[in-house]
Amino acid sequence: MNIVFVGDVFGRPGRDAVKKLLPRIRQEFVPALVIANGENATHGTAMTRPAYEELAAAGVDVFTGGNHTLGKKDSLDLMALHANVLCPGNISPAVRSHGFGVFDTPDGSVAVINAIGQYCMNGVDSPFHYLEELLGYQDIAGAVVRVLDFHAEATAEKAAMLYLTDGRLSAVIGTHTHVPTADARVTPRGTAFITDVGMTGVGTSIIGLDPTVMLEHFRTGVTQHPKVATGDAVLMAVVVDVDTETGRSRCITPLIRNA
Ligand SMILES: [Fe+2]
Ligand SMILES: [Fe+2]
Repeated sequence: MNIVFVGDVFGRPGRDAVKKLLPRIRQEFVPALVIANGENATHGTAMTRPAYEELAAAGVDVFTGGNHTLGKKDSLDLMALHANVLCPGNISPAVRSHGFGVFDTPDGSVAVINAIGQYCMNGVDSPFHYLEELLGYQDIAGAVVRVLDFHAEATAEKAAMLYLTDGRLSAVIGTHTHVPTADARVTPRGTAFITDVGMTGVGTSIIGLDPTVMLEHFRTGVTQHPKVATGDAVLMAVVVDVDTETGRSRCITPLIRNA
């Protein structure tokens, strides 16, 4: 089966890019499941109900989150209502049960897990202990295909997560930095991996935000009110081809498409 994973959707430009490009990507790859990280979907912070509805209508089946997810209370409301909205389960005890889900697809069930790294993130539990706990759960172990969105800053922490889960997950997909890495590969044990899939938002931005405002922030050290960038958007994603009999990935293909 093919699984499409779309990198952090940033604000309206990112949502518009998904609406424009995802139908074509669905036609091209006929994915059994489309997962998108929605932590920046609404003005760069979290995902509100209108953004959820927009992206779901565009063809996103499952949403993951990150450090910005709890930036709006709407996230808790969405997760309570919709089983296909996840956030890193180790970010807070209040959302521990929202860090995973098992989803039916035409090609069999797929477990999706969402965890966050500890480097540069305050007060989160160990993602490694969280994964070890989840991999012992019967419903997750029972799904042949298992995909992790590991939302983390440090490349080493993401590599360490791959070594913990190598051969136990079909794919370990890094998110959060918004900058795609050139290391997509499948391990000999069949786990597809990329350190960071990138983002879906304005290409000439600073990780989705207005460059003038961000430059002022870095130049002066004065905190600026963040502003979503305007301009041409780009969609960054990966397509993972997984053997549904074994759960082993065959290949991982990065996609970068201009909207
Ligand atoms: Fe993000
Ligand atoms: Fe993030």
